[in-house]
Amino acid sequence: MMDIVRSVADLRGRVAGWRRAGLRVGLVPTMGALHRGHLSLVAAAREWGADRVVASVFVNPTQFGPNEDFARYPRQEEQDAALLEGAGCALLFSPTVAAMYPDGFATTVTVSGVADGLCGTVRPGHFAGVATVVTKLLLQALPDVAVFGEKDYQQLAVIRRFVRDLDIPVAVLGAPTLREADGLAMSSRNAYMTAEQRAVAPTLQRVLQLVADGLRAGGAASVLCAQATASLLAAGFGPVDYVEIRDADTLAPVETLDRPVRILAAARLGATRLIDNIGVSPSAG
Ligand code: PAF
Repeated sequence: MMDIVRSVADLRGRVAGWRRAGLRVGLVPTMGALHRGHLSLVAAAREWGADRVVASVFVNPTQFGPNEDFARYPRQEEQDAALLEGAGCALLFSPTVAAMYPDGFATTVTVSGVADGLCGTVRPGHFAGVATVVTKLLLQALPDVAVFGEKDYQQLAVIRRFVRDLDIPVAVLGAPTLREADGLAMSSRNAYMTAEQRAVAPTLQRVLQLVADGLRAGGAASVLCAQATASLLAAGFGPVDYVEIRDADTLAPVETLDRPVRILAAARLGATRLIDNIGVSPSAG
């Protein structure tokens, strides 16, 4: 049976035992409401060489804005625990808000550069909340590897940045986005959509593919992104927060396909905010 621990002391005790036995440890941080995408992160940790994988489930209040979905974010610990156990997870760390942010908590990790723009503009404070909680989780578990989905591509870039900047001794692994049969990126927030919205949602991914085709054909980023925004609005999305093409590593803006790039988009569909991204590289030769 997979155990559940709720205190940092218990988490550290378990990880220390594995370390004494010479085992390598992986961490998969999540906010729960798990789907196959999350379980693929557990598999990625195992493939990396982790002998034991710890998953954390913590709906982190500091990364939600005042008008966002913290209160209604789905919470289903029993179901999540069963899924994690089935995926080969060794331990679930599920702390309370009071354990993570006790009275007097006063520290924030802020990252500039990669955290600015894109979701950083639309969700002020979001990446500081993510960076702070992930720093805590990494220092609490002290894993050899931590795995994050490419679905949240800017988040992954932010995490890579502060892990390097703060010399946190952990390998950060990005894992590819898992998609539904119609191309929609798996997300815990997909559950918010009505049937009609769900039918429209895969348009986001199709529009990104069209931008990728346009880039490969030599199109200019600004024109392609404006067309993509118009297509999303015509399909029923709105507002469109952004459609942008960025350097795949630094997230600096790019105008043509002269290096590996990432096409990123965020748009609302009713009350649900969807994000997605795909990578494109110049063809070799
Ligand atoms: O991607 C998520 O689910 C969250 O942002 C994370 C990394 C678990 C931090 O709360």
